[in-house]
Amino acid sequence: MEEVQNIVKVHDLSFQTFLDQDKILKRVHELGAQISQDYQGKRPLLIGVLNGAFMFASDLMKSISEPCEVTFVRMASYAGTESTGKVRRVIELQEDIVNRDIIIIEDIVDSGRTMEKALEYFQSFEPSSMKIASLLFKPECLKVDLKVDYVGFEIPEKFVVGYGLDYNGLGRNLKDIYQLKQE
Ligand code: IMP
Ligand code: MG
Repeated sequence: MEEVQNIVKVHDLSFQTFLDQDKILKRVHELGAQISQDYQGKRPLLIGVLNGAFMFASDLMKSISEPCEVTFVRMASYAGTESTGKVRRVIELQEDIVNRDIIIIEDIVDSGRTMEKALEYFQSFEPSSMKIASLLFKPECLKVDLKVDYVGFEIPEKFVVGYGLDYNGLGRNLKDIYQLKQE
């Protein structure tokens, strides 16, 4: 039987269903369970990277059964569907993270440059430990030496939108994740 693909248009581009919301939430709950186990009694601080990670951060936090806290920073590197390679920090960290166990929450690791810069920045405040949780990871695109500790899904080198991820500002409200459709 042929699978029916849902197509959405965002700006000038067409995208097709790639990961539906049930699959996403099931995996997010698995990551939450894993983090709950790994951080028993540690009261980790989740640091969501805006804008893309807001939905993942929210669902992930709800899946963590241990006491934990959340805050956000904002980093930006993308213009359109291309990583610019230049990472800007737009909202600074407001919390004191010295001696805290922090988990950086990212929507997607592509070249890895955003996370490399984030790790460097947070390291300067001397947390006791730092890990990365990313919903999506494009291993073929990685340009730096980076370990992603919690990965939702490894995906191929194709632009995606939905569940918080955008294409020039739009598409974040889609419940499923869509992949750029090859014409
Ligand atoms: P990196 O610095 O190249 O790893 O890029 C990471 C950032 O680029 C992520 O936080 C996303 O905001 C954005 N990004 C990377 N790939 C995609 C994609 O396929 N769709 C939407 N945003 C993406
Ligand atoms: Mg992002």
